Amino acid sequence: MKFGIILGSTREGRVSPQVGAYIKEMADKREGHEFEIVDVKEFNLPFMGTGTPNENWNKKIDELDGYIFVAQEYNHGLSASLKNALDSARPEWFNKAAAIVSYGSGGGIRAAEQIRLILAEQKVADVRTNPAFNLFTDFENMSLFTPGDHMHAGVNDMLDELILWSEALKTIR
Ligand SMILES: Cc1cc2nc3c(=O)[nH]c(=O)nc-3n(C[C@H](O)[C@H](O)[C@H](O)COP(=O)(O)O)c2cc1C
Repeated sequence: MKFGIILGSTREGRVSPQVGAYIKEMADKREGHEFEIVDVKEFNLPFMGTGTPNENWNKKIDELDGYIFVAQEYNHGLSASLKNALDSARPEWFNKAAAIVSYGSGGGIRAAEQIRLILAEQKVADVRTNPAFNLFTDFENMSLFTPGDHMHAGVNDMLDELILWSEALKTIR
């Protein structure tokens, strides 16, 4: 199966590529599955309804069997760029599974919980385990990602759950 590791932030100086690379490194140990970075910034999506939609985004979401959202917290919520990316596709998300990896000063868990509400509306089944990285302890100077080994178990649980549910949902698509 093919999974997308979706980088939600588009901010200059963002840390999401570091978090995504770490998740990909862990995920690539799973044989028989493909994991790719899907960077929202590279799709240059118009703010929904204000420009020509980028069909490449819809194609990419459609071709993937499951998703790992790399989610950042801004003002106690998910980033506007990730919300816009979620809104910019519709049937392409349906009947897939997803996991959320979040980060922020409190692990980004408020953003993660908001994303669960949105995923329910997009018919995406979100798995329980949410690896949540803390800006104060998992980063140096809040900018260099230095995750400790203590997070490995959580990331592996997340991958187990995501692969299992993605396999199950593939049977109904
Ligand atoms: C506009 C803005 C608001 C933020 N608000 C929060 C917040 O409410 N809670 C939190 O934990 N971190 C907050 N942060 C810190 C971000 O989570 C942190 O900068 C993180 O690195 C953002 O992800 P990014 O670097 O991939 O863009 C905020 C950052 C910005 C830029």
